[in-house]
Amino acid sequence: MQHLRSDLITDYDRLADTWWDPRGPLAPLGWIARARAEYVPAAEREGARLLDLACGGGLAGPHLAGKGYRLTGVDLSQLSLAEAGRHGYPDLARADLTQLPFTDGSFDVVTAGQCLEHVPDPYAAVAEACRVLRPGGTLIVDTIADTRLARLVAITLAENLPLPGRPEPGTHDHRLFVNRARLVRTARANGVELRLLGLRPHFREGLAYLAGRRDRVRMVQVKPTGVLFLGVGRKR
Ligand SMILES: C[S@@+](CC[C@H](N)C(=O)[O-])C[C@H]1O[C@@H](n2cnc3c(N)ncnc32)[C@H](O)[C@@H]1O
Repeated sequence: MQHLRSDLITDYDRLADTWWDPRGPLAPLGWIARARAEYVPAAEREGARLLDLACGGGLAGPHLAGKGYRLTGVDLSQLSLAEAGRHGYPDLARADLTQLPFTDGSFDVVTAGQCLEHVPDPYAAVAEACRVLRPGGTLIVDTIADTRLARLVAITLAENLPLPGRPEPGTHDHRLFVNRARLVRTARANGVELRLLGLRPHFREGLAYLAGRRDRVRMVQVKPTGVLFLGVGRKR
């Protein structure tokens, strides 16, 4: 069993005022949050609720606005939660995503973006996400695969090349990267059949971003799921 880096949450508290910096170390999370939001269906009923696990600074907030949900954000970083509160999340809870303070079936949509690769037991986190999802509700997760290629791309290159939007060195621990088959099995055992797809930055927009000619980059859907991938499914 791998253990949570003890200073991980302190790091997100320290970085909390950079969540919305388009060229800061958390910038690519905003691109992914926008892509994730595209898989969130419009709310099917009055009073529908969406739970954003490890919501960080609430980067998904603007992209979820208008879909008809009341947003709840959960995170362990208090300063990040405060930021999410300023970006469309009226309900906030400081909690561990593997032990959620909600009853079964409380939410119409649960999202877990770029957080499973930071916890010692991502499969327990997925089971917990399924528990708080109502039957018929949608689960969306995106994370990093446990492959050598992902280690090369997400750590060796992304954390070390001196480029804008670079995550801080040490952000990721490849031993926590997520096994796709086990993730799918866990979700299935908890009532959700996940469909996986790969995501990567739009190449031309990425180059324009690096050249300082644009402030954000669209993510595009790809077949290979061996680096950054997203899973989406409905609960039986
Ligand atoms: C890479 S950020 C992703 C934030 C957000 N989901 C996004 O995509 O913009 C990881 C977040 O996970 C949070 N986090 C890490 N471990 C957690 C845990 N066990 N429970 C709740 N939040 C956690 C961190 O505080 C941080 O805000």
